[in-house]
Amino acid sequence: MRPTAATSTLAPASGSLGADTARLEGRDKVTGTARYATEQAHTPPGCAYAWPVPATVARGRVTAVDTAAALALPGVLAVLTPDTAPRLGHAEDPTLAVLQDHRVPHRGWFVALAVAETPEQARAAAGAVRISYAAEPHDVALTAGHPDGYVPETANGGEAGSSRRGDPEAAFDAAPVRIDAAYRVPPLHNHPMEPHAAFAHWDGDRAEHLTVYDSSQGANAVRTALAQLFGLAEGRITVISEHVGGGFGSKGTPRPHVVLAAMAARHTGRPVKLALPRRQLSAVVGHRAPTLHRLRLGAERDGTLVSVSHEVATHTSRIKEFVEQAAVPARVMYASPHSLTSHRVTPLDVPTPSWMRAPGEAPGMYALESAMDELAVELGMDPIDLRVRNEPVTEPGSGLPFSSRHLVECLREGARRFGWGDRDPRPGVRREGDLLTGTGVAAATYPVLVAPSTASATAHPGGTFTVRVNATDIGTGARTVLAQIAAGALGAALSAVRVEIGSTRLPAAPLAGGSSGTASWGWAVHEACAALVDRLADHHGALPPEGLTATADTTEAASAAPAFARHAFGAHFAEVQVDTVTGEVQVRRLLGVYAAGRILNPRTARSQFVGGMVMGLGMALTEHSTMDPAFGDFTEADLAMYHVPAHADVPDVDAHWIDEEDHYLNPMGSKGIGEIGIVGTPAAIGNAVHHATGVRLRHLPLTPDRVL
Ligand code: MOS
Repeated sequence: MRPTAATSTLAPASGSLGADTARLEGRDKVTGTARYATEQAHTPPGCAYAWPVPATVARGRVTAVDTAAALALPGVLAVLTPDTAPRLGHAEDPTLAVLQDHRVPHRGWFVALAVAETPEQARAAAGAVRISYAAEPHDVALTAGHPDGYVPETANGGEAGSSRRGDPEAAFDAAPVRIDAAYRVPPLHNHPMEPHAAFAHWDGDRAEHLTVYDSSQGANAVRTALAQLFGLAEGRITVISEHVGGGFGSKGTPRPHVVLAAMAARHTGRPVKLALPRRQLSAVVGHRAPTLHRLRLGAERDGTLVSVSHEVATHTSRIKEFVEQAAVPARVMYASPHSLTSHRVTPLDVPTPSWMRAPGEAPGMYALESAMDELAVELGMDPIDLRVRNEPVTEPGSGLPFSSRHLVECLREGARRFGWGDRDPRPGVRREGDLLTGTGVAAATYPVLVAPSTASATAHPGGTFTVRVNATDIGTGARTVLAQIAAGALGAALSAVRVEIGSTRLPAAPLAGGSSGTASWGWAVHEACAALVDRLADHHGALPPEGLTATADTTEAASAAPAFARHAFGAHFAEVQVDTVTGEVQVRRLLGVYAAGRILNPRTARSQFVGGMVMGLGMALTEHSTMDPAFGDFTEADLAMYHVPAHADVPDVDAHWIDEEDHYLNPMGSKGIGEIGIVGTPAAIGNAVHHATGVRLRHLPLTPDRVL
């Protein structure tokens, strides 16, 4: 479901790209005028509120729903149940088929919906609905050898479920130096600041048009899903996602809250707002699936890899297959004549996992880069030298040449900036009182993805321009960068360009996901602006009042088969101190150096890199969701229990990049930057903890109970 890789040979454009530009909507955001999906300031008369009822069993059936007590409460308009809810059309994504049958595939699955005059009344009504279940025994325990596990044909992103090159087992057995280690990454949750929320209303005498404000990473996909579910032509639905308070992948696909809001609005004839409470998110908007890793690295005594095996076990739900593609980076990173990568997925009675920032790469590179560090220690070799020794000429998995690959430059530049050259490699020897200190390094990679997009550009009399594209700015700075791309292509000042994004009324565009947004939308914006420049050159005399418009559609250019392996690379460095009395790990310094093509806006790019690294710090030290075997539910359901880094946890974080020119990407010459910052950070921190203590920990997060 992620955008596919593609290639182009267009030359990079010049213009105001690369300028340090503040977010165009920054003022709107800090003054509260930016409109989010269920913004209180935009509440029409008669607006009602919906509150879902989650299932309290992990597997079974709803046998009865008693709504009498709920309906008797003040302000309650309706309670939708599997028996009374509107019937939906076929859901391509089974997680959207809400209230359509009595099955409970996991705890937290929505089994009813209360609608009332106020959010408080809706919440009270939801609490008063009495559900009876026929519960069945559930299985939520992932094990590497689970009997229901299988190797899927493809993992997330469309990559093959497994791969094999040469004879990896025999090569490993014959290798003079070997690492055979198991790593574990727990389930993780995205928890964006703005919870998943939607505002829906049906217009017209016979409700012929549906308008939805949704907190989503891609309004076009939401519209397509709603059209199928409600049996409407897409032209009769408008989805607006103008400002979005984060998503990290959890808003990358349409989510059940938007379907419920539209259902409730149709059922009651009222406009309806539905903002999911934080505590309901963990079961219904995806999570990073837990991954169990076995890494086998076989090397010559000089560090040359002869065998690389990465085997991953993970879970999915009973209703939808999602396979965290954590073994895929091992097909990209290091040269080795023999290699094996595989995913084994087990359907369990758990919520459906989905995308979370750098799905696949984040957990996969934690394991691979930890194992590389273990190998370096075993060899008595510097971990940077080990990586440089195994730098491939072509992509190991595909044999394709790289469009550009500057991992070695990132490692060297990072080493210089971090002061790596002075490092004493001995573990466990830097003690200051109760504190042990250490440093670690890890590599990072993230694929260059791009999807077809459309856009339009209009020149107005008076010298201003409007650019339209249904892009989504989830806090990344996308709106600003698109204006820069347009200004550059038009040869206009940034202040002369107005960018409209975040609505299906605009030219269709793909989601903000897979670090592909800027490349995908920007390509279409660039083409539309270039076409407009041509039209203006042919046009003589004054512009008509409606101006001149040019459009672009990159379907052909952006879906061409790739002739190159295209990835961003990076190097992460960490310095930690470990308290030998409390077991607490504190990160003192984090450094990331990236090779991600052309950096289009240093200010917003730095923010993306640093944000990814902070999320990686959370993954390394504090974040985890625990599947409770008795209840079949995640124990950590809110931010009091799910610990994301607080300011006091975040030290000096520094992001740099090397100038990388790559002519095989898109007209801007850019690679994605939204996800790579998380990728190498957990392993760099884990490797630093080993350097500090001499103890190798292989289960994330590195909480005090594990460290002691
Ligand atoms: Mo990202 S996890 O592809 O939104």
